[in-house]
Amino acid sequence: MRPGWCLALVLVAPWAFSCVSADSAQRSPVVLVPGLAGSVLEGRLNRTEAPAWYCAKKTDNFRVLWLSLSEASRPVCLLDELALFYNATTGRYRNQTGVEIRAVDFGGLGGIDALDPGLPSLTPLYSGLTKAFKDEGYEERKDLFGAPYDFRLAGDGLKQVGFYDNLTQLVEHAVDSNEGRQVTIIGHSLGCLVSLYFIMQQPSDWLHKHVNSFIAISAPWAGSVTAMKGSISGDNFDISIIPQNLLRPVQSTAPSGPWLYPSPDQWGDKVLVETQKKNYTAKDALQLLKDLNLTQQAAVYPIVHDLTYPLPELDIRLHCLYGTGMETDERYVYDVPQFNASAPPAPKEVIKGPGDGTVNLRSLEACKTLGKTASVKAFEGASHTGILTDDRLIDEVLQIVKGSKSGAWTGFKTKLRRKRDWLQQLLGAGLFRGRDTFMST
Ligand SMILES: *[C@@H]1O[C@H](CO)[C@@H](O)[C@H](O)[C@H]1NC(C)=O
Ligand SMILES: *[C@@H]1O[C@H](CO)[C@@H](O)[C@H](O)[C@H]1NC(C)=O
Ligand SMILES: *[C@@H]1O[C@H](CO)[C@@H](O)[C@H](O)[C@H]1NC(C)=O
Ligand SMILES: *[C@@H]1O[C@H](CO)[C@@H](O)[C@H](O)[C@H]1NC(C)=O
Ligand SMILES: *[C@@H]1O[C@H](CO)[C@@H](O)[C@H](O)[C@H]1NC(C)=O
Ligand SMILES: *[C@@H]1O[C@H](CO)[C@@H](O)[C@H](O)[C@H]1NC(C)=O
Ligand SMILES: *[C@@H]1O[C@H](CO)[C@@H](O)[C@H](O)[C@H]1NC(C)=O
Repeated sequence: MRPGWCLALVLVAPWAFSCVSADSAQRSPVVLVPGLAGSVLEGRLNRTEAPAWYCAKKTDNFRVLWLSLSEASRPVCLLDELALFYNATTGRYRNQTGVEIRAVDFGGLGGIDALDPGLPSLTPLYSGLTKAFKDEGYEERKDLFGAPYDFRLAGDGLKQVGFYDNLTQLVEHAVDSNEGRQVTIIGHSLGCLVSLYFIMQQPSDWLHKHVNSFIAISAPWAGSVTAMKGSISGDNFDISIIPQNLLRPVQSTAPSGPWLYPSPDQWGDKVLVETQKKNYTAKDALQLLKDLNLTQQAAVYPIVHDLTYPLPELDIRLHCLYGTGMETDERYVYDVPQFNASAPPAPKEVIKGPGDGTVNLRSLEACKTLGKTASVKAFEGASHTGILTDDRLIDEVLQIVKGSKSGAWTGFKTKLRRKRDWLQQLLGAGLFRGRDTFMST
């Protein structure tokens, strides 16, 4: 029951005491793991060179880089600062020389609530969900935690920089400080693969002791065709004032991109990308990267692709929640003879299929592979990221987390929240991908 109702009940009927603490004795602590581009990143510079005279070389303190609308107004500087390098000999990643990049406020909500902390009401991210939790009596860093991360990296890189050690400690702390109640991990989009890789690495007795369930929202279990477009030609999210390939330098080097490529076992021989002389299926992804001379993504593809494929069978409670009924990219037709080292123009034609607007339906539905007992709920008309502010989703999540089976309080919020896709589109201008999608997969 919501505290407001509870208070009203206490006032008129004092014997109906303490509904809030009855709830809190049962409810599970929550850890939120955001999606691609859904974590606030900050950077500190101590550089000897910069790509343009107007780019800063030294900063005394960390300052927000992603997303800060003022930083984004100088994309030449921002993209260079966000460059990531992979050493194939050592298998290790590093930041740009003289640049330190980290996610903001690990454990708290400062790195996931709003995309631009300077403009929280204009750039809401998880604030819809976290506000609903707070209305239920949850408190930040007490039983409500955020796990933002460097979304340029895939699971192997996140392990290197210590993210998974952090996450293990955070989950243990959440359980210990909440009378041993197990946590619920809530992932969105790429955050579901990040969480899946975490779960796969933990021993099963650790999982049984610490994890109550895993709620996967808009999960790209078998990848997404849109991820390929970022590498090939860049993605400007269909915003005409943004040059189509402006963001390609980051999109075509980040290892999180190929982690999200369609998985061969789910897509089979379906043609996903066409040129005049050569077609590519999911099995041809490595060849595609080589043809485009994307050496870094070609080097990491065999590693990151296998991190979570083939999908394992999970021994924990899994809830998959996603939107359906949105047109989703299924095949790109490029009007060039064949790919080479120079990025081609945007696809001439995009063939659409079912999905949530970003992730294809077959990938969302691959949830079934992960657990025979997985509960699956699809929300008609909810988009990939818009779903985070959809009241149907919020009510479902609260119900799961509170361990409520009756569902007596669902339906209090029936009014659909205004979709904020225009904003998401604007922000998508930032880096990765599309439509509602930028913080997306
Ligand atoms: C900046 O980098 C230089 C070497 O390039 C180093 O000597 C110096 O200590 C660094 N400054 C800070 C504040 O880290
Ligand atoms: C990769 O790492 C090795 C071993 O540290 C080093 O010798 C080599 O120069 C590095 N390669 C690049 C391209 O930085
Ligand atoms: C980037 O910089 C941060 C802050 O110094 C550091 O913690 C992180 O390990 C670096 N990332 C990589 C991939 O080396
Ligand atoms: C790990 O947690 C510490 C302490 O909260 C934080 O300073 C650091 O940035 C985190 N690192 C990663 C990779 O999450
Ligand atoms: C590529 O695939 C399309 C249909 O998916 C087909 O019509 C075309 O002939 C193929 N082109 C090549 C070069 O295989
Ligand atoms: C391919 O990329 C490598 C560096 O990754 C570069 O040295 C080489 O010149 C590129 N080839 C072409 C044809 O551009
Ligand atoms: C590379 O492909 C483009 C079309 O994307 C074409 O215009 C260009 O001539 C090709 N370059 C080479 C060296 O083949």
